Amino acid sequence: MQDLIERAAQAIRRARKTIALTGAGISAESGIPTFRDPGGLWDRYDPEEYATIQAFRSDPAKVWRMMKDFTELKTAQPNPGHYGLAQLEQMGMLHCIITQNVDNLHQAAGNRDVIEFHGNMRQVVCMSCRKLLPLDEISLDTLPPYCSCKGVFKPAGVFFGEPIPVDAMYRSQEAAQSCDLILVIGTSAVVYPAADIPRVAKESGAQVIEINPEKTDLTQRISNFIIQEKAGVAIPQIVAAIKAMAS
Ligand code: OAD
Repeated sequence: MQDLIERAAQAIRRARKTIALTGAGISAESGIPTFRDPGGLWDRYDPEEYATIQAFRSDPAKVWRMMKDFTELKTAQPNPGHYGLAQLEQMGMLHCIITQNVDNLHQAAGNRDVIEFHGNMRQVVCMSCRKLLPLDEISLDTLPPYCSCKGVFKPAGVFFGEPIPVDAMYRSQEAAQSCDLILVIGTSAVVYPAADIPRVAKESGAQVIEINPEKTDLTQRISNFIIQEKAGVAIPQIVAAIKAMAS
């Protein structure tokens, strides 16, 4: 393992532009369940029933009740994996993070350039007039919440069947095509188009390094190598190795 940590540290030191793609796994050590691991969110809730835009349209109150239950999102704090990426950005060694997460933990850890590929849960959007409001400015006492225009408010996270926010899509493509190293951390890489980002980076000449306790669809096909370790363990070790090399 240590040799792979050193290899990753060396690759980051040498890279001209490193980016990261993160998924639910990086927040697992903050107490937020992933989607597809055993006991994950999709074991508890059928995504067809709760995570598609059709499901939201047909029963918004039911989907809102599930969201309201999801208290881990409100209380979770960043873990050493998030803080390690924030340190890399501060050291000038991480250009941006593309995250599929909606938990705000990269920003809470201090990263300034975070592309929220699947939107966020801090805001709500009106299904009729598209007005955006902070979640904590609306009442959830009666569900679903309604906009002053009488449209239904939806969490501003991306549901299955909805497009990726245009700006996030554009910036991610640009980052993937222009980086020479991508760290793929804590994602099963099965949900598209996010899962295509490492391939785009690879085809543009980038190295791909995965950090994930489990192998994924990318491991054999796309990744140069995988560090099979928890993000909260591996990332601080990589940062420490970079610092040791610099001194
Ligand atoms: P998944 O639940 O599909 O995958 C989580 C990944 O994290 C798995 O590969 C785990 O092995 C890995 N993992 C678990 N613990 C870890 C740890 N401590 N450190 C590092 N890795 C760890 O989650 P995502 O890939 O993020 O989209 O899922 C992608 C999208 O599917 C989500 O954004 C969401 C979901 O449906 C929408 O809802 C639109």
